[in-house]
Amino acid sequence: MNSYLVPGGGPYLLTHSVGCLPRVARDALDANFLRPWAERGGDAWPQWLSRIDEFRAALAQLFGGAPDEYCPQTNLSSGLSKLLSALAGSAANRRTLLAAEDSFPSLGFVLQKSQRLGFESRLMRCAKLPDDIRTWSDALTHDVRVALVTHVHSNTGRVAPVAEIAKLCRERGILCVVDVAQSAGILPLNFPGLGADVALGSCIKWLCGGPGAGFLWIRPDLIEDLEPADVGWFSHEDPFEMDIHSFRYASNAMRFWGGTPSVAPFVIATASLRHIQALGVDEIGAHNRRLVQTFKDNLSPAWQSRLPAWPTGGTLCIALGAEFDEVTASLKQAGAKFDTRGDVIRVSFHACNSADDALRIARAWQGGR
Ligand SMILES: Cc1ncc(COP(=O)(O)O)c(C=O)c1O
Repeated sequence: MNSYLVPGGGPYLLTHSVGCLPRVARDALDANFLRPWAERGGDAWPQWLSRIDEFRAALAQLFGGAPDEYCPQTNLSSGLSKLLSALAGSAANRRTLLAAEDSFPSLGFVLQKSQRLGFESRLMRCAKLPDDIRTWSDALTHDVRVALVTHVHSNTGRVAPVAEIAKLCRERGILCVVDVAQSAGILPLNFPGLGADVALGSCIKWLCGGPGAGFLWIRPDLIEDLEPADVGWFSHEDPFEMDIHSFRYASNAMRFWGGTPSVAPFVIATASLRHIQALGVDEIGAHNRRLVQTFKDNLSPAWQSRLPAWPTGGTLCIALGAEFDEVTASLKQAGAKFDTRGDVIRVSFHACNSADDALRIARAWQGGR
């Protein structure tokens, strides 16, 4: 039995957007969120909060560090906003927030709107490749306060050399924030080992945990000095103290939390994280590469020459040019679920896919030949 609920009959290639629902995650939602609610109402909180502790523990197991270094977030953008609010005014001569132009737009919007905090955003032009360390070395100038590094770019699959960039940032006194939305769950990742200061991620894609279960990881020695403006009772050292005159930041990453948290997304995502952990990120990555190879091997030499020549994360991003309509119509007919950005088609193989999917896609790509 497939451990995923795969929609439709055809190959599911949309993990870069929304990973397939693991059966265990659907069961967990009922057992760990809905049933406690139905049976205990407001008394379900202790049980619900213990599930969020489990979420943080599962992240620490997958990505290293301690559970206290992780704070749940709704999404990456919210984590970035909170972080920037905590940095405002901290270094008058360093006001630039640097990112690549093909970073995910939502994060670019957060950078732009941080103007009101006294920052200025600067985007490295797309033509300057974000996977080339020289691009970063040139751009990491003395005015930069934060470098936002997208680990895997969603429209090209390009992989940034995060550890090298983080090293440069450290040498130059720049805070290095990594967006792991497209790498968590498909590339090997250890946040403390990476050398970055902050990692922002979510579980919706390669972690198959659905929307709403984002997270922020922060290097423990940075926590004490960062005081986010966006807070709530769950950012308090003791959320249940209930004294309006006394706010004390939580001593761990939970100071980046906020008001009454959502629970359901984290219950779902915890089951998915455990599932991914059991499969093994290395094994999922190897499976992905085997299916990519099967797909490539079954394409004509002409198509093979059009595949990306650079190392990619889990997604194949292929410019279809004049063949766009023909290829996409043929894939749709084969029941494949995929998406496009401009003339680029995005194809992701994950644990829910088989070699047969890769073969079917390659055949449909070439009009059944
Ligand atoms: C590289 C990357 N970063 C971030 C996001 C999502 O950001 P947010 O969680 O703030 O919506 C995506 C979503 O596709 C992405 O591909």
